Amino acid sequence: MSRILSGTRPTGKLHLGHLLGTLENYRKMQGHDSFFMIADLHALTTEYEHKTTIAEKTTEVMVDYLASGLDPEKCTIFIQSEVQEHAMLGLLFSMITPLGWLERNPTYKDQIRELKGKDLHTHGFLGYPVLQAADIAIYKADKVPVGEDQLPHIELTREIIRRFHHLYEKEVFPEPDGVLTQAPRVPGLDGRKMSKSYGNCIYLSDTREEVTKKVLTQMVTDPARKRREDKGDPEKCPVFFYHKLFNPDNTDAVACACRNATRGCVDCKKEMCEKLNQYLDPIREKRALWLKKTKEIREILDKGAVRARSVASQTLKEASRAMGLLP
Ligand code: TRP
Ligand code: SF4
Repeated sequence: MSRILSGTRPTGKLHLGHLLGTLENYRKMQGHDSFFMIADLHALTTEYEHKTTIAEKTTEVMVDYLASGLDPEKCTIFIQSEVQEHAMLGLLFSMITPLGWLERNPTYKDQIRELKGKDLHTHGFLGYPVLQAADIAIYKADKVPVGEDQLPHIELTREIIRRFHHLYEKEVFPEPDGVLTQAPRVPGLDGRKMSKSYGNCIYLSDTREEVTKKVLTQMVTDPARKRREDKGDPEKCPVFFYHKLFNPDNTDAVACACRNATRGCVDCKKEMCEKLNQYLDPIREKRALWLKKTKEIREILDKGAVRARSVASQTLKEASRAMGLLP
């Protein structure tokens, strides 16, 4: 049986990219041996400059986790910083991780470029993937459901684990694999990858009206279809990408109407939007319920931390023993 671990940074509300890129897989893969955390320490690597609201955002991510179908009866849900073994294993891994591996990590370079306003020349940010490797290894996870952008981090995790085994001649951790959903890269309203920093998101917390307005007024279409009479290519249109996901039974007709210009983009968008809203409605209802249950959420997280610690402390002992810290 697979051991599963994954996590989400609480840096804001979750959007369709999270839902289709990872949460769908969380829901499908959850079971007795699965661990889903809220990576608040990882959030701190980029948000450290102000006393921010990571704790509040943690609750928001929890609401989104639960509304999208994670069931605390089936899996373990917890907050990373409440299981301190992550930090300790991260420190042990930091002893054996060459700086060069971190400096040439593509995500590191991208993020420094993307988050220009922030000073990310810190020890914590450079060590981001080391902590992530510890998150995974501390549960001996072999499957890690993530978005495409995280694959370099999984690869680095494998390298750190291999180096650990090589140095201490003891196999403690499995080498994990990333698991992607069918839609790992979801286009945002402007056609680029959906991302908070691009301001092109549809959030799980958006109302029906907000989603409809965003789709009708902001979502780009095939640029070749400037006028109603112009024929379009649905494969170049994010609206059609969404039709394939949320309106799968009617994609042939939608594509045909686009190619032959028998229907305009507004009507095409309206049909897609209705299906998208139908998909989001049950999530919205569950969000509204969970938003009121802050006490239950705290209980779920407390229980989750206890369960996570019981596994994590065992692994930490094994790792400490392999490195010679324990007899
Ligand atoms: N880096 C991941 C992200 O930004 C979050 C994360 C932290 C994570 N630790 C993890 C994901 C361990 C998978 C496994 O999405
Ligand atoms: Fe996109 Fe639909 Fe317009 Fe074609 S008709 S360009 S698929 S919105």
